Amino acid sequence: MKSIAITLMALIFSNAVLADAEKDIDYRKATFKIVGGHMKSMGTILKGRMHQSDLKLHADGIRAMSTIVPKVFPEGSGDGKTGALPAIWEKPAEFKIVLNKFVAAANEMAEAADSGDMNAIGPAIKKLGGSCKGCHDNFRASD
Ligand code: HEC
Repeated sequence: MKSIAITLMALIFSNAVLADAEKDIDYRKATFKIVGGHMKSMGTILKGRMHQSDLKLHADGIRAMSTIVPKVFPEGSGDGKTGALPAIWEKPAEFKIVLNKFVAAANEMAEAADSGDMNAIGPAIKKLGGSCKGCHDNFRASD
């Protein structure tokens, strides 16, 4: 009897943990969808040379999102339907480096967009795009 109770407790507990992981994964994916949306919009603006006055809004958007991104990788949120690789939690020092590079690049992009200077905007968006790849290459599963 006692062991059944313990088994049940363990089951309920592990389901609760999994449910939390799913919510964390959903929120992480939603966060990166927004980051990706802003990035795509900026690329479209720069390629098409239109809606240029919106560039700053998208750059500010990514800068704002870059304050959320470090918080969407809680311990245990690697279990489930996620492209987040175990390396995120296994190599925290390396992960922090790519995370910091992204945050710095997002800030630089926002400053460049603020200045409106195309000579600053070009390199800044390249650097920002490179920082996405810098993380995806080692910490995100390729589909
Ligand atoms: C520090 C690491 C890191 C950085 C920096 C990063 N990403 Fe990601 N990205 C991830 C991980 C991990 C996932 C997988 C999330 C999951 O499936 O739980 C992801 C997923 C995504 C997704 C898919 C979201 C979905 O619909 O499931 C998009 C789009 C994306 N990233 C775009 C970007 C762009 C654009 C940048 C740069 C401006 C960027 N990411 C920077 C780690 C990063």
